[in-house]
Amino acid sequence: MKASLFRSAETALRRVSSPSASSHLLRRSYCVESKPERKVAVLGAAGGIGQPLALLMKLNPLVSSLSLYDIAGTPGVAADVSHINTRSQVAGYMGDDQLGQALEGADLVIIPAGVPRKPGMTRDDLFNINAGIVKSLCTAIAKYCPNALVNMISNPVNSTVPIAAEVFKKAGTYDEKKLFGVTTLDVVRAKTFYAGKAKVPVAEANVPVVGGHAGITILPLFSQATPKSNNLSDEDIVALTKRTQDGGTEVVEAKAGKGSATLSMAYAGAVFADACLKVLNGVPDVVECSFVQSTIVPDLPYFASKVKLGKNGVEEVLGLGPLSDYEKQGLESLKHELKASIEKGIKFATQS
Ligand code: NAD
Ligand code: LMR
Repeated sequence: MKASLFRSAETALRRVSSPSASSHLLRRSYCVESKPERKVAVLGAAGGIGQPLALLMKLNPLVSSLSLYDIAGTPGVAADVSHINTRSQVAGYMGDDQLGQALEGADLVIIPAGVPRKPGMTRDDLFNINAGIVKSLCTAIAKYCPNALVNMISNPVNSTVPIAAEVFKKAGTYDEKKLFGVTTLDVVRAKTFYAGKAKVPVAEANVPVVGGHAGITILPLFSQATPKSNNLSDEDIVALTKRTQDGGTEVVEAKAGKGSATLSMAYAGAVFADACLKVLNGVPDVVECSFVQSTIVPDLPYFASKVKLGKNGVEEVLGLGPLSDYEKQGLESLKHELKASIEKGIKFATQS
């Protein structure tokens, strides 16, 4: 995609801003305006991820209504973003009283609400605060937009996705096809690191990343990376795997207490949201990696893998494909931690 998101946004901007646009451009502009109405809600929209994600969603011509919600600061973010001359109408909502309005009629809800890591913390250290935030936001989603696709960014994703599922089950609205843990940043990183090392064009690089979204549960499958490269040693693969698994920590340490990945995450979140909007509009053959309800690995009811997306969300959870011995080992090693994180989320949601 990816570049196409920005190309189409740029084109949209040119169309809207150029008084001398040719009739051809105007006709195409009319086509863009006639795309289906799509409301996207961002929960946590005033945060480090939320703000650049709001910007990127404002640039996406598939969005007609952009709803920005946070516990504080959203009026300013919404006013700012709303001045951008692209298709969507922007509204800012703040505080519990306005959450219903923010969600009502949403086709897609993106959740980057919650606290980020500081150096020395694991993602699981965020559980105590973020589990409650996700639970209350998902309770509202079940009430106000039960049919929306939900893109969960808040950490620990390995637990927040099961929490969301349990909240929806309790409310009687759970549809496993519509709940996604966003692991796109792992794919974005794996592509970047692989392209650099393998000396292949980064725009063409593709690397599936499976498992979960924390430390060793992040399992990039470099044996399936394309374009193929013959110049990577076993040591290179080990180093690339470790760098992908530690990518979040690399940013947390570099930011030295000022949060975790925000800009690359906003990009990754926008890529995944764009894929969701495309399939809602009937675009075929869209495949992305995501942490979803799954049966591909026994005993792990949620697992990240390649997923074929369709009009109703998950159309098919794709299998792992052939793994190298190193990847098979990685898969064995991640099972215990991933299972424990999933169970922790389920226990929190069912017992609290
Ligand atoms: P941030 O602190 O900058 O922003 C979080 C925002 O959430 C704040 O504006 C805060 O007011 C808001 N918030 C808190 N409680 C809320 C509630 N009940 N309802 C709505 N909004 C609420 O943090 P950030 O850097 O944007 O990170 C947000 C989350 O995303 C963290 O949990 C972080 O670990 C996670 N994250 C995930 C990935 C991923 O790959 N999935 C990548 C980066 C960060
Ligand atoms: C990431 O991968 O960057 C995020 O999960 C944030 C973090 O805490 O590392």
